[in-house]
Amino acid sequence: MGKCLIVCESLCYGNTAKVANAMAETAKARLCRAAQLKSLNLEKYEIIGFGSGIAYGRHYDALLKAVGQLNLHGKNVFVFSTSGTGNIQYNSTLIGLLKNSGASVVGNFTCRGCDTFGPFQSMGGISKGHPDSDDLAAAKNFMLQMEKQTADAPLVPRRQQITEPIK
Ligand SMILES: Cc1cc2nc3c(=O)[nH]c(=O)nc-3n(C[C@H](O)[C@H](O)[C@H](O)COP(=O)(O)O)c2cc1C
Repeated sequence: MGKCLIVCESLCYGNTAKVANAMAETAKARLCRAAQLKSLNLEKYEIIGFGSGIAYGRHYDALLKAVGQLNLHGKNVFVFSTSGTGNIQYNSTLIGLLKNSGASVVGNFTCRGCDTFGPFQSMGGISKGHPDSDDLAAAKNFMLQMEKQTADAPLVPRRQQITEPIK
């Protein structure tokens, strides 16, 4: 895979950070927080992953706000999340924002993450022990798929060819 950047916000239990670390290890990717995006040259990266835990059915605000300010025209991106229920529909808001920023969304990953918030507190929480070793293996496997997909057929040309002088 070409150079990969993984942007992760993991504010509650470190659940999504475990997933991001597994992905970064597989892809030899650089990891960063949403607030660092402004100071990075995104041109350098062939593929960028965006992920966080889920609060109230969507990714954390810090990540959504940062993505809303980016121009990702022509960039391959993927999304990931962890949540108490592991519902992949929670990734929809972020996917919509990325598409609006001009990106091609080439991958979508989620897994469960332990959650002791709200009504689940009295039961001692849900998804205890997640992400577990199977979840992290799935995250690594997902990155291998991303690698294969972007190597076989880049969905977006790396550089647009200028064939005529610009008038
Ligand atoms: C304020 C709050 C809201 C949450 N909302 C949801 C939710 O809507 N659906 C869900 O399945 N899990 C929800 N969760 C659980 C988290 O998404 C889950 O614990 C996640 O793995 C935390 O990721 P992190 O440790 O990387 O921050 C919520 C947790 C908190 C603290």
